[in-house]
Amino acid sequence: MSEARLIDGKAVAARLRATIATAAATLKAAHGVVPGLAAVLVGDDPASQVYVKSKTKATDDAGLKGLTHRLPATTSEAELLRLVAQLNADDAVDGILVQLPLPKQIDAQRIIEAIAPAKDVDGFHAENVGRLWSGGKALVPCTPYGCLLLACESLGKNLAGAEAVILGRSNIVGKPMAALLLGEHCTVTVAHSRTRDLPAVARRADLLVAAVGRPEMVRGDWIKPGATVIDVGINRVATPDGKGKLVGDVAFAEAQRIAGAITPVPGGVGPMTIACLLRNTLIAACRRRGLPEPAV
Ligand code: GUN
Repeated sequence: MSEARLIDGKAVAARLRATIATAAATLKAAHGVVPGLAAVLVGDDPASQVYVKSKTKATDDAGLKGLTHRLPATTSEAELLRLVAQLNADDAVDGILVQLPLPKQIDAQRIIEAIAPAKDVDGFHAENVGRLWSGGKALVPCTPYGCLLLACESLGKNLAGAEAVILGRSNIVGKPMAALLLGEHCTVTVAHSRTRDLPAVARRADLLVAAVGRPEMVRGDWIKPGATVIDVGINRVATPDGKGKLVGDVAFAEAQRIAGAITPVPGGVGPMTIACLLRNTLIAACRRRGLPEPAV
């Protein structure tokens, strides 16, 4: 069998970012609006620092305004709630993103619920979650939306009837991914650590989304020949030279021999998450002001 086609997330994300930049320039010219994204980073988790830096840079590159708030690891829940309230009230801020995970003393769910739903560009607030599941006008979580765009890149825009299996049931990826794929009329299975015979369940999938956070857990024989595989995992593993490398949740070399199409790590889902965050910020800025939403 020939090797799987690579789904180039970097290229798809670059196209989306360019479309967003054009829409942002039009919004500025027509209405004098520059959408603002406030990213909040609490503590010094190295991965979170890298993510927030890339998100803020991409925001500025697309002609939006990125603002980063860095708080020490000792920040209390009350202090963070005060900052969120200040950002909710700030008219220059259209999107608020509090990078997760948060230090132990802070209840992440309380912070998420304190963000104004109209500025919740992560799409984690209960109001947006409810709207996503009930087919309303939600701000949609960025990583699963990016996965959906990549799935459409591989399978075409019509996913109706496809057998989709999602590995992982997190609030950030697995659950919203299920809502999005149901919305596309897929038959959706959400499998997880307690699922019996995970490989057999995975093998049913025409579209397999792996979001378990375990390096290379999905082996080649978990994949139905010809399936589309979207790998959400970004795991740093040790290498003999001490430098380490990034791998996904899928054993890539094995999977590439069986799958029809597959996302690489890095360069697959990762770049899409950031592009979709910019998209949400632009959409939030338009919705808040009652302006027509750009088709991005
Ligand atoms: N940590 C890992 N993924 C995400 C994300 O999409 N948004 C936020 N805020 N934190 C994260």
